[in-house]
Amino acid sequence: MSVAHGIRKLGVLGAGQMGTGIALVAALRAKVPVLVYDRSPEQVTKGLSLMDKLLAKDVAKGRITNEQAKEARDRVTVVSGDLGVRGFRDVDMVVEAVSENLSLKEAIFASFAAELRPDAILATNTSSISITKIAAAAVPDNTNAASEAGKKSAGRVVGLHFFNPVPVMKLVELISALQTTQETLDRARAFAVACGKEVTTSKDVPGFVSNALLMPFINEAIMCLEKGTATREDIDTTLKLGMNHPMGPLQLADFIGLDTCLAIQQTLYEGTRDSKYRPSILLERMVDAGWYGKKSGKGFYEYDTSG
Ligand code: 3HC
Repeated sequence: MSVAHGIRKLGVLGAGQMGTGIALVAALRAKVPVLVYDRSPEQVTKGLSLMDKLLAKDVAKGRITNEQAKEARDRVTVVSGDLGVRGFRDVDMVVEAVSENLSLKEAIFASFAAELRPDAILATNTSSISITKIAAAAVPDNTNAASEAGKKSAGRVVGLHFFNPVPVMKLVELISALQTTQETLDRARAFAVACGKEVTTSKDVPGFVSNALLMPFINEAIMCLEKGTATREDIDTTLKLGMNHPMGPLQLADFIGLDTCLAIQQTLYEGTRDSKYRPSILLERMVDAGWYGKKSGKGFYEYDTSG
C-alpha cells in the first residue's frame, strides 16, 4: 500500500548544487512549497539563478509550459539570513544539504530538534556520514536517547541521498538510522517518488551502497594517474568508450567536487579501517591546493567559472 508523504511545506538547508536541485524537483515535480536557507546569501542568489536557467531550458525544450515553470518558481521562497533555521518552524520536512562535515551536521540537527515542529521529518542528503550519528544529534542534551522522547526525536531522522545533477539523475538512496521509525521511512520514500525518483534502500554503513562502490573506483583512477599508468584523457576515455560510462572517473570526481570526494573517502576509511578506501595522496594534495574540481575552475581538468 502506498503511503502519502503529507509534506505540505519543505525546507531545504544549503543552496549549493545539491540543495538547489532538491528544491527544484520538490517545487516542480512534487509541487510542494519550498523554503530555502543558506548562510551565504551569494550561494542563494547563485542557486536561484541556476533554478531559473534549468526551468527556462525545460520550457524551451517543450517539457513544461511557461505557466508550470512560473508556478514552480513561485513555490520557492528564500528564508532571510537572520531567521536561519528558525525560518523552517512550520515545515513538515527539512532536507539538509550542506558539506560533508559531521560536526556541522550534528549542530544543524540539534538546532532542527530545538526549532522545528516535533513531527517534522529531518532528512539528510549526506553522501557517507552515519545517519545514526546524525539522528543521535537530534536528541536534546537533557533527554535520554532511549526514553520515549529521545526515540521520538531521533526516529524522524532519515537519509535521503540524491545524486548530482539532481534534476537529471533518477535515483534517491533511502537510508534508515538505527533510530528511524517505519513511518518516517515510508513518508520519506513517498516524497522521493513524488519528486520523480526511483528509490533504493541501503543500510547505514559508511558510504551506503552508492559511495562504497563509487569512491574506490574514483580513487583507483586517481592512483592510475598518480602512477603514470595513463594520461587523464586516456583514463577517462577508457571508461567512457570501453564501458559506456557517461563520464570518465576523473571527470566525474571533478564534477562531484574533489573536496567532497576526499571527505567521503575519509569517512569510508575511518569508518571501515579498510585500506581499499584509503584516499590517494594526489587527491589529498589537490584539495590542499584548493583545487576542488569544476566548482573552483581547476581539478583534474580546467573549467571556466565566469558564467
Ligand atoms: N544541473 C542540471 N542539469 C544538468 C547539469 C547540472 N549541473 N549538467 C547537465 N545537465 C543536464 C543538461 O542540461 C542536459 O539536459 P537536457 O537533456 O534537458 O538538455 C542533460 O543534463 C544532459 O547534459 P549534456 O547533454 O550537456 O551532457 P551529457 O549528455 O554529458 O550529460 C550528465 C551530462 C547528465 C551530467 C552526464 O554526463 C552524467 O550522467 N554524468 C554522470 C553523473 C553522475 O554519475 N552523477 C552521480 C555523481 S555521485 C553523487 O552525486 C553522489 C554523491 O554522494 C557524491
